[in-house]
Amino acid sequence: MKIIVTAGPTREALDPVRFLSNRSSGKMGYALAHAAARRGHKVTLISGPVALTPPAKATFISITTAAEMFSAVKHRLPRNDALIMAAAVADWRPSRFSPRKLKKTNKPWRLRLEPTPDILMSLRPRKGRWIFIGFAAETDHLLKKARAKLVAKGLDLIVANNVSQRGSGFEVNTNRVTLIARDGRVQALPLMAKTEVAARILDWLEARFAR
Ligand code: CTP
Repeated sequence: MKIIVTAGPTREALDPVRFLSNRSSGKMGYALAHAAARRGHKVTLISGPVALTPPAKATFISITTAAEMFSAVKHRLPRNDALIMAAAVADWRPSRFSPRKLKKTNKPWRLRLEPTPDILMSLRPRKGRWIFIGFAAETDHLLKKARAKLVAKGLDLIVANNVSQRGSGFEVNTNRVTLIARDGRVQALPLMAKTEVAARILDWLEARFAR
C-alpha cells in the first residue's frame, strides 16, 4: 500500500520569535510511519517540528504550519491509498503575523485568532476510494465525541484517545486507545506501547484494504 502519515504538532507564528502550538511529540505518528515502512508499505511522512528520526525508506516532508500540512497532504493524496492523520494540527492561528518582533508593554492585550483549515474535513467531499484514519484527542465523553468526529469528517476509522489519562496521549511512549470503525465495530485496546498501537492500526488498515 501507499500510505501518507502525518505527525507532530503544527506551529502558527505570531512574529519571528513566537508561535502557537501544542504538546504533540510526534511519537504516535512516527511509530506508525516506522511500522508501515517495516511492513513494506510505501510511506510518505508529513511532519511538523519534532525531535524524532523518520524511517530511512520513507519520503519525508517537513512542514511548519497547518496550511503547509494541508497543501502537502492535498498534493500527495492522489498518489496514495490511505491517509493516517496522527498530527495534532493547531486549530487556530494568529489573524496577523507581525514581521517584526512584537515589543513587550506592561498593558494587557488581546490576541486575535482565526481557525486553520480542517484538513480531513476539507478533503471529505473528494474522498473517493481513499481510506481515511483520524485520531480523536479528548478529555471527556471519549467515545461519543470520537464517533461524532468519525461521522463529521467522513472517516473509515477513528482512533479515540483519552489524553487526560496517565500513560496515554501526549509526550509519553504508551497509549490507551479505542478503535472505532465506520461500520460500527469497536475495539477497546488496553494500555500499550505506541509501537504496539501502531501495529494494531496497521492490522486494521491492511484488512480493510484487502476487502
Ligand atoms: N485534524 C485536521 N485538521 C485540523 C485539525 C484536526 O485534519 N485543522 C485532524 C487530526 O489530525 C485528527 C482529527 O482531525 O486526525 C481530529 O483532531 P482533534 O484535534 O481530535 O479534533 P478537532 O477536529 O481539532 O476538534 P476539537 O479540537 O474541537 O476536539
